[in-house]
Amino acid sequence: MKRKISILPKNSIEIGQVSFNNPIWVASGTFGYGTEAPELVDVEKLGAIVTKSITLHPREGNPPPRIVETSSGMINSIGLANIGVDKYIDEMLPIYKNVSTKIIMNVAGTDLMEYVEIIEKIESVSSDLVGFEINISCPNVKKGGMEFGVDNSMTAELTSELRKRTDRLLIMKLSPNVSDIVSIGMGAQDAGADAVSAINTVVGMSIDSNSGKSNIYTTYGGLSGPAIKPIGLAAVHKLYQKLSIPIIGIGGIVSSNDVMEYILAGASAVQIGTANYRDPGTGEGIIDELNQTVENSKWDSVKDMVGKAKLLS
Ligand SMILES: Cc1cc2nc3c(=O)[nH]c(=O)nc-3n(C[C@H](O)[C@H](O)[C@H](O)COP(=O)(O)O)c2cc1C
Repeated sequence: MKRKISILPKNSIEIGQVSFNNPIWVASGTFGYGTEAPELVDVEKLGAIVTKSITLHPREGNPPPRIVETSSGMINSIGLANIGVDKYIDEMLPIYKNVSTKIIMNVAGTDLMEYVEIIEKIESVSSDLVGFEINISCPNVKKGGMEFGVDNSMTAELTSELRKRTDRLLIMKLSPNVSDIVSIGMGAQDAGADAVSAINTVVGMSIDSNSGKSNIYTTYGGLSGPAIKPIGLAAVHKLYQKLSIPIIGIGGIVSSNDVMEYILAGASAVQIGTANYRDPGTGEGIIDELNQTVENSKWDSVKDMVGKAKLLS
């Protein structure tokens, strides 16, 4: 049975030139290509779906085991398994014509030219994509990705090369595995990004104490879920102090209260990731809860709350 939910237009938000019904999106890698959501999920109610990362060539990803549950979260080391951009264009873009939710394509590459080539390929065909989220922060691949995410001049160079090639939304996805996330965010902003999203997963490790073996083939993987919410909140709050472009908060969201925390910290929208593995309808439920929470609050809309956390010092 589909859940009945209501969408309050007052919770709509704008990022760049695009208006979203609500600030609740689903995060890359946790909702497939946006085409396989189970029938039970009313995907059109979501603010947006961010696809899993697409690379220039198809990738099988890392060998198993590549997912393990941890305290209040999980570690994954999927390694960007995906069908590659050509198949994505042939098979997924036509399906999006019948999906009423806004779709944002997440893009990953091993060097600047790979990112550029993917965007050029997508821009050479007609599509309903509203934008790109650029993964410069994947901790699970040996080469590329993270190298951009840890360096603000490389982030700026990549952003400006992509900006030249697309008028769609350009969102740079930031890594928490850096010493100064704000300088990377500034690099993205100054080079023309419409928004930044934060955070990707946090580098983690898990060992089976009985066998002494690593629980993840690649030794280290990306920690996600409620365990990382405080890290995501701090990142969003720090970015909000310095950036003027919107920030999309990610990390450990399971409830509308978590969403409120991110919005108060400075997020204009949020993405739900790991919680989709337990229930792909989490986003839908949260939209309903959030409408109620805003209704009962002193704020008129989600927009009014952005960055309004009261600090004690
Ligand atoms: C299994 C899994 C696969 C993921 N794959 C991607 C990916 O392909 N690209 C990407 O940018 N982020 C990927 N992520 C990171 C999420 O989009 C998100 O940034 C992170 O999990 C934190 O949010 P959460 O705590 O709500 O899961 C993945 C996360 C998980 C758990």
